Formats: sequence, structure tokens, C-alpha cells
Amino acid sequence: MQPGKMDSLLKSSDWETLDLTGRSVYICSTDGSTGSCIRDAGVNLRIICIASALAFSSLLLLALPPQERIPSAEAKKLKNPVPCTRKSIAQGRISFARYCTPCHGPDGKAQVDVVADATDLTSPGAFKSGVSDGEIFRSIRDGAGETMPPFKTQIDGDTDLWHLVNYIHSLWPEQMRPPLEKDKSKEKDR
Ligand code: HEC
Repeated sequence: MQPGKMDSLLKSSDWETLDLTGRSVYICSTDGSTGSCIRDAGVNLRIICIASALAFSSLLLLALPPQERIPSAEAKKLKNPVPCTRKSIAQGRISFARYCTPCHGPDGKAQVDVVADATDLTSPGAFKSGVSDGEIFRSIRDGAGETMPPFKTQIDGDTDLWHLVNYIHSLWPEQMRPPLEKDKSKEKDR
């Protein structure tokens, strides 16, 4: 390719976004050779700087959510502070209908076309991220696997998340459910 032609190609393209220095940044390939060269060593350095800054910030982005996630060992130790009462299950059912049915289906069995691989919540054996109260809490709060989104911002307050945990238990086969607790008259909904 003619160097002139390359110049005009480069100038008219997105490459100009690389030009943070006021100088032109060209990655030019000379005719016939396979190698490429960068015209200006100073720019070369800058490219490396920009590239590593970008790499670093994307690393940060990747690293941040896990920091906010409840670590797995912690999740196992979490105690459900909300008694598993009919009232709590009813609260959970309301949130479930609102947020969860598109992927898990109205009955929790995930026999929906939308997202093929959502867990069948009626079957504890199918759970991949743990079946203890705390682990289920964490799956809902922080998301699970690749595609289950976190709900900590949408569902306001831990209590509602625990209601969902209690609701999920109520979908399990009877012998695997935790015992139902009696509603106490003073028990708050939220
Ligand atoms: C966008 C689709 C989607 C929505 C909405 C969604 N889920 Fe999920 N959920 C998934 C998928 C997919 C998985 C399986 C993740 C995996 O592969 O581990 C999952 C997994 C889970 C798990 C962990 C099960 C396991 O495998 O250990 C729980 C608990 C859960 N969902 C509960 C809920 C609740 C409660 C809601 C509503 C607040 C909800 N999900 C909303 C897609 C969704």
C-alpha cells in the first residue's frame, strides 16, 4: 500500500481517538513487510501507558463486584433473622412474582423459554450455589452463575431478601423444608 494512502485511511478513521497528545499516532506497515512500526517513540510509550491504564481499570471493574459479594464461607454462616412464617412466605411470594418469574417461571421450575438455564428452585438438588439460607440469600442478593443478576439494589432491604429465601424453601418437597414457624402477632412484615 502507498504510504500516502495509508495516511489518509488512518486520518479518516477511528485511529484519531488514540491521538491524545496532539501528535499523530500511526501504526504504519511498509510495503511487503509484515512488521508494523510506530512512528514516534514518545507516542509509543504513551500508548503503552494508556493501554495499561485501560487494562488496569477494567481489572478494577472486574474486581469490584466480587469484593461486594458475600464471600462463600461467610454466606454459609449467615443466619436467617426472619422466621419462616406464613406471613414471610407470602411476602416472598409477592416479590417473587414481581422480580423472578420471567426467568424462574411462576412456579419456580424455570420451565420458561426466556432463560434456558435458570435453576429449578423447587429442587434443592439442582442448586449450584448452595442450599443453606445464607447461600440462597447470597444468590439472590449478589446474583448467581453467569446470568442471574444481583437484586441487592432492586430489592430494598435484607428483610425482603430473607422473605424470598423463606418463599423458596416453601417450594421444596415437604420433607426438605424447614419447619414452619408460628406467626407472632408483633412480627413485622418488613
Ligand atoms: C434474568 C433471569 C433471572 C432472574 C430475573 C432471576 N434469576 Fe435466579 N437464576 C437465574 C439463572 C440463569 C440462575 C442459574 C445461575 C447458575 O448457573 O448458577 C439462577 C439462579 C438462582 C438461584 C441459585 C440457585 C442455584 O443454582 O444455587 C437462586 C436462589 C435464584 N436464582 C433465585 C432468584 C430469585 C429469588 C429471583 C428474583 C428476585 C431470581 N432468581 C431472578 C436467572 C434469573
